[in-house]
Amino acid sequence: MNSHSSTIPVSLRWVGDAAGHLDILDQTRLPAHLEWRACHDVDAVVEAIKSLRVRGAPAIGIAGAYGLVVAAAEAIRDGLASDAARAHVLARGELLACARPTAVNLRWAVERALGTITPLPPTASARDLAVALLAAARAIHDEDRELCAAIGRHGAALLPDGGILTHCNTGALATGGAGTALAAITTAWEQGRKIHVFADETRPLFQGARLTAWELVQRGIPVTVLVDAAAGHLLSTGRVQACIVGADRITAAGDAANKIGTYAIAVLARAHGVPFYVAAPSSTFDLSIESGADIPIEERAAAEVLAPLGVAAAPSGAAAFNPAFDVTPASLITALVTEHGVIQPVTRDRIAAVLGPGGRVTP
Ligand code: MRU
Repeated sequence: MNSHSSTIPVSLRWVGDAAGHLDILDQTRLPAHLEWRACHDVDAVVEAIKSLRVRGAPAIGIAGAYGLVVAAAEAIRDGLASDAARAHVLARGELLACARPTAVNLRWAVERALGTITPLPPTASARDLAVALLAAARAIHDEDRELCAAIGRHGAALLPDGGILTHCNTGALATGGAGTALAAITTAWEQGRKIHVFADETRPLFQGARLTAWELVQRGIPVTVLVDAAAGHLLSTGRVQACIVGADRITAAGDAANKIGTYAIAVLARAHGVPFYVAAPSSTFDLSIESGADIPIEERAAAEVLAPLGVAAAPSGAAAFNPAFDVTPASLITALVTEHGVIQPVTRDRIAAVLGPGGRVTP
């Protein structure tokens, strides 16, 4: 069964030395087209993050870290002196960190990578900066593979046989490894468990239908796609034994922001006595925020709702409400699955105990 996993391409890759470029698998073109987009400047990386060519909280963090190397490569090309090169990288870093507001992984990864150039002497050249930033980005990327594997193992142990409902895409495409919630599902499958995945299509951008179903079909795992509005009927008729989703930001109290529609599934799961799990690495926790009400929720263009996949579905003149994420309160989450283990019950004390006082165990 594992033989299928090698067919899932990586979500992004660095090409060349420290003056090289970032290749992003263009997820807006999937599943029909497997196309790579070469990003030679920071504007291209920012555009790719904003337009969801690369998406998913861990993957945009990794893209942001590599984006800093692209910034340093710009400084090399432009022949900037040491101080100008450093100022350039810092300014471009802020642009990258702000490209999307909800996933805390993006700013976390950018700040962690920038932290590696702080101790370098003021005389460090643009190339010195690029070399240090590439090492930092590679470390974040490599670690994410390990985190995903650990989350997959911990999550698989929680999942029962039977129907598993998931939302959006939390697989290899959304991370630097095998995924978070989807890694739990694929790991359980690889362990020989009898699982059938139900993937919400995930309107308006169809990450569930286009990306999750594509990953699962590639792996030979049975998957059924449903319109988001069918989840209530599915749960009420006993066909779902557990729900598992990812997260873009989790507060100190355990409230979790994730793709729009997640909250509705959590409410439905509670109403029907079905466990609802949220899987995410420690870099998705933001312990500076107590309540989910304080998580910034990205609002996206009306066209995504009014003309899904480019096809007009509403009259011109109609307005659209298009929040990209919603918040599920900790009280509706059965357990959080992190690389350090399972947090259950979801309380501030259990989160602090598992993650440590700083929230993120990884440096
Ligand atoms: O807007 P997207 O597609 O980036 O939203 C992604 C999600 O909501 C995922 O569930 C989350 O980032 C976790 S990915 C492992």
